[in-house]
Amino acid sequence: MTRIRVELTGAAALPYDVVVQAGSLRELGSIAPLVAPAHRYAVITDDIVARHWAEPLLDGLASAGLAATLLSFAAGETSKTRETWAELTDQMLGKGLGRDTTVIALGGGVVGDVAGFVAATYMRGVPLIQVPTTLLAMIDASIGGKTGVDAPAGKNLIGAFHQPSIVVIDPEVLMTLPADQLRGGLAEAVKHGAIADRAYFEWILEVADELLAGDTALLGALIDGSVRIKAAVVSADPREEGQRAALNFGHTIGHAIERALDYGLHHGHAVALGMIAEAEIGERAGITAQQTRDRLSQAIETLNLPLRVPAGLNAGQVQELVRLDKKARLGVARYSLISEIGKIAYADRSWTFPIEDHLVVEALRTIL
Ligand SMILES: NC(=O)c1ccc[n+]([C@@H]2O[C@H](COP(=O)([O-])OP(=O)(O)OC[C@H]3O[C@@H](n4cnc5c(N)ncnc54)[C@H](O)[C@@H]3O)[C@@H](O)[C@H]2O)c1
Ligand SMILES: [Zn+2]
Repeated sequence: MTRIRVELTGAAALPYDVVVQAGSLRELGSIAPLVAPAHRYAVITDDIVARHWAEPLLDGLASAGLAATLLSFAAGETSKTRETWAELTDQMLGKGLGRDTTVIALGGGVVGDVAGFVAATYMRGVPLIQVPTTLLAMIDASIGGKTGVDAPAGKNLIGAFHQPSIVVIDPEVLMTLPADQLRGGLAEAVKHGAIADRAYFEWILEVADELLAGDTALLGALIDGSVRIKAAVVSADPREEGQRAALNFGHTIGHAIERALDYGLHHGHAVALGMIAEAEIGERAGITAQQTRDRLSQAIETLNLPLRVPAGLNAGQVQELVRLDKKARLGVARYSLISEIGKIAYADRSWTFPIEDHLVVEALRTIL
């Protein structure tokens, strides 16, 4: 079992722990009352996760004598809306759940974001326990306190910072996760290595086959490594004002690709492509060491992640989306880049870099 502390200097929130332990899903009954005692636990999940993992979690709560209410919504990003938030909060009000409720988010990033936003707003805010069930949610979405929903105008536009009381990660739940979801999560782990820890990056590649085969012990070690990196970055910059931009490596292009494909490609797969393109941009701009892009491509290929954008997109379309994003952010598209594998680039007192359009287009051509 490992326990990693997320410190939140300067943020109006308490530090909290991320616990990584096989079997911890069933032990939530002994963990929850210590960090977030409640009259009743509202377990929020989606219908797919509910099928696999609601029962062991609820059994664990019941055998510890804790009262729980299960609330579930249809799986998928299309449920990450204000409507789902309204339905969940109405159901909670209908069941008479009071201020002394703790929300348990059992699921992937969609559940974590929606349930987190419910916890942030229900009765002006109740405690939250994150129990992530996708690799992406374990090493990324469940840590950092960002919660929210999508709007027709764009993703994640309505939300709040609401830090969990604890994040409980049971690597065994990955047994039922579809393979492409697992690979998408691995792309984020590669990103963690690329921005912060070369040895970790190389280790992922050494054990890639076992990770892809779902080896629980190695996945546990991977989660531990990535959570340490994410926790350190978030602790240094809890409100996302500076250094946390490092976590956006691969994401400016990655997001544009996701949008261009109407979110038909898994986020992690788009980020894999984004990292390659942004390493190319960095090399061309003289910010990233030569051959970094090649090493990243090898890593991405080893993990069976895509090296090229699925057919049907051209550089102009992606560039147009980067430009729209730029407009949305008052005219500056800025990129988080790495100086080499294991090191985020920092120059002129900034963690992000403005890049000329022609460099972006040239880099995009290499992944199309
Ligand atoms: N808050 C943050 O900081 C943050 C960071 C990154 C991503 N996100 C958000 O996370 C979301 C993506 O998260 P995701 O990739 O986890 O998607 P997701 O929550 O939609 O989960 C993907 C699919 O896997 C299923 N699933 C989850 N766990 C399973 C398991 N153990 N076994 C079988 N099936 C399982 C889900 O039902 C769903 O169908 C996006 O909305 C994104 O915006 C948030
Ligand atoms: Zn991401």
